[in-house]
Amino acid sequence: MIDLKDIKKSYFVGDRELQILKGIDLKISRGEFVVLMGVSGSGKTTLMNIVGLLDKQTEGRYTFENIDVGGLNDETLADMRNRYIGFVFQQFFLLPYLDAIENVLIPVVYSKKGIKHPREKAKGLLAKFGLEHRVHNKPAQLSGGEQQRVAIARALVNDPELILADEPTGALDSKTGGEIMHLFKMLNNEGKTIIVVTHDPKLATFGKRLVRIEDGAISEDITT
Ligand SMILES: Nc1ncnc2c1ncn2[C@@H]1O[C@H](COP(=O)(O)OP(=O)(O)OP(=O)(O)O)[C@@H](O)[C@H]1O
Ligand SMILES: [Mg+2]
Repeated sequence: MIDLKDIKKSYFVGDRELQILKGIDLKISRGEFVVLMGVSGSGKTTLMNIVGLLDKQTEGRYTFENIDVGGLNDETLADMRNRYIGFVFQQFFLLPYLDAIENVLIPVVYSKKGIKHPREKAKGLLAKFGLEHRVHNKPAQLSGGEQQRVAIARALVNDPELILADEPTGALDSKTGGEIMHLFKMLNNEGKTIIVVTHDPKLATFGKRLVRIEDGAISEDITT
């Protein structure tokens, strides 16, 4: 599904070139559950943004679903994201003026997949995550863990193959964080490919594979 070959990423700050990713080789197959760890600034988000087709590498080749995505234009990339990838973030990014079910339905608006009965689907996802009584709550009327579950339902509503979660438990206490990781495990058991960034070694044990990144390079890659 994912094949990164010698991926490098650098930024220019003034006239200085900062190399952030220093040659990443990584293959991830359908059905894997990968936990990505590394200290702050090591390049995790930079890598996740490339994997998620939100950003482009400066060098190297990225093949996603057998397509070399390096040459694709923004519109095609947006289509591929919508089709294949669900995103979950530390800060949830729910729209405050929409209730839970309306938030879950946002990606359907942009979808070309023709999701059938989207409202029932959204409701079903919220119920699956224990939120049947919160369907009409606005984000401010939900706890952090509940907001993140709404965000995960939103990531799933278009039936993506791949879930990318960048520190999804970073804003939650450790118990709630464990519940969220449990949910990812359940989704992985149902066949979803999952990549989660976390700082918490306890939460890392939920994955099936641990990839550690140090100063822009992979320093460890173990199947657990
Ligand atoms: N647009 C940018 N321009 C310049 N430097 C950047 C840019 N984006 C990120 N960086 C730098 O790249 C490095 C890696 O950033 P990245 O966000 O990938 O780290 P991270 O591993 O996700 O860290 P954290 O755990 O704090 O989220 C950092 O030193 C950061 O300052
Ligand atoms: Mg980050």
